[in-house]
Amino acid sequence: ESTLGAAAAQSGRYFGVAIAGNRLSDSTYATIAAREFNSVTAENEMKIDATEPQRGQFNFSAADRVYNWAVQNGKEVRGHTLAWHSQQPGWMQSLSGSALRQAMIDHINGVMGHYKGKIAQWDVVNEAFADGSSGARRDSNLQRTGNDWIEVAFRTARAADPSAKLCYNDYNVEDWTWAKTQAMYAMVKDFKQRGVPIDCVGFQSHFNSGSPYNSNFRTTLQNFAALGVDVAVTELDIQGAPASTYANVVNDCLAVSRCLGVTVWGVRDSDSWRAEQTPLLFYNDGSKKPAYTAVLNAL
Ligand code: XIL
Repeated sequence: ESTLGAAAAQSGRYFGVAIAGNRLSDSTYATIAAREFNSVTAENEMKIDATEPQRGQFNFSAADRVYNWAVQNGKEVRGHTLAWHSQQPGWMQSLSGSALRQAMIDHINGVMGHYKGKIAQWDVVNEAFADGSSGARRDSNLQRTGNDWIEVAFRTARAADPSAKLCYNDYNVEDWTWAKTQAMYAMVKDFKQRGVPIDCVGFQSHFNSGSPYNSNFRTTLQNFAALGVDVAVTELDIQGAPASTYANVVNDCLAVSRCLGVTVWGVRDSDSWRAEQTPLLFYNDGSKKPAYTAVLNAL
């Protein structure tokens, strides 16, 4: 195959990309994105601050621009993200307790209702665990509403759109030996045992010198899949974009039958949220980097 998406489709998977809506008018960007990928995640446009800037007043103009471009170009869409401590609008940052809990529920219903039946996977909850060795939940206004906020979010999401796969998504959970990984594993195991509706776990996979790729990532993916959930690489970028590491990540996904696909977090290095790390598959002029060829050959 000659594109990443077509190559991934040979094994029933996707190869996706994070799209920034305001870059779609750049023809180099749009040409690569349309040609190479068969799944799209909105980099920022479906987040809480973008979709509900005032309480109860939803605005889907930026989100729909990305969604419509994706569908018109034949791609499936990952929804990102409904409940998160970051990129909350000011009104939500200032809420707490039962008012915040209700606002979270209303937000999930509002956004999932708008896209009902149209989203392959939703990142229902993002980044709820703390970094470091504690294995604790991250302190946030949502966490302070009660430890059950995550399962309430998932139950709300299942009712709002039964057709979407519901994912928990986080970073620094790729290395099986890390406490954060083990804490996330315990939560997913508990959810499956108690019937809390969860279908998938997203591994962001922002690899760099502080949180490097480790070959035990495949073990992590296998162990989560064995709990009865799908897994996905949701925001891949790798400092310096070493071709061999990109190939390793792709091979890790391909080795796990429940790995749905891989999404890279941007098109060209200059589009990356970490542009200084040159972590992506395309040079700034739109040409293919060695890592691109390594990924295509691995798929
Ligand atoms: C990042 C975007 O890439 C940036 O444009 C934005 O300024 C901040 O958020 N984890 C996530 C993503 O789940 O939503 C983040 O995206 C990167 C880290």
